[in-house]
Amino acid sequence: MARRKLVAGNWKMNGARDANAALVHDITFDSKRFPGIDIVICPPAVYIESVAAALSGSSVQLGGQTLCEQEKPGAFTGEIHGGMLKDVGCSHVIVGHSERRALYGESDALVAQKFITAQTCGLQPILCLGETLAERESNQTETVLARQLAAVLDAAGIQAFKSAIVAYEPVWAIGTGRTASGEQAQAAHAFIRGQLARANAKIANSTRILYGGSVKADNAESLFANADVDGGLIGGASLKAAEFLAICAAA
Ligand code: G3H
Repeated sequence: MARRKLVAGNWKMNGARDANAALVHDITFDSKRFPGIDIVICPPAVYIESVAAALSGSSVQLGGQTLCEQEKPGAFTGEIHGGMLKDVGCSHVIVGHSERRALYGESDALVAQKFITAQTCGLQPILCLGETLAERESNQTETVLARQLAAVLDAAGIQAFKSAIVAYEPVWAIGTGRTASGEQAQAAHAFIRGQLARANAKIANSTRILYGGSVKADNAESLFANADVDGGLIGGASLKAAEFLAICAAA
């Protein structure tokens, strides 16, 4: 079955009100050229509401960059409940980004709980998986991907993947300018899809698997051309409208 391509921009901890307004203006103006794909942008939480207002009437969707694992709001200083992301206009939320795993100690179990909470709150999780360079060089890529995915599959069940997106993000390619080759990306994506297919082939076949890690205008086409690559999760290049739109054009 044909899977609709999706390009998501993860702004990470970047942005300011004026710069966001200009960026969103340029993206929404031109995004009309791409009716055949889904576009999601994930600003820092404090800017989501103003970006939502700027996106009004556009088909560009909004996502959070993380959420609190707690299913109910309450006394969790500094945290953001999934229902709040939904309330300010988000349809998606990134969970398990490698920066959250490595810098903020998010375990596989915590990522799985965040995935479940996201869905409970009506958000589509974008579940990030990926190996470090040391893991790749010691032939652990598939072991790591299988472990990270199994934590979520075991906790949430395969049916949960009917409304979830997976992103393969090799840690060694994030923000480094070193992109996975088309062959490396395809191999990892096919492996992830195969893991899902062990639980349910139909759901595996309809699950979108994005590639992330130094995607740019000049390499997007060769990455997106691979059979199991259903779009991209874009970091640095999502902060420049022309570059991001060129990536959308390649999808
Ligand atoms: O979430 C996005 C990824 O971490 C990729 O970031 O495009 O800056 O390498 P990057």
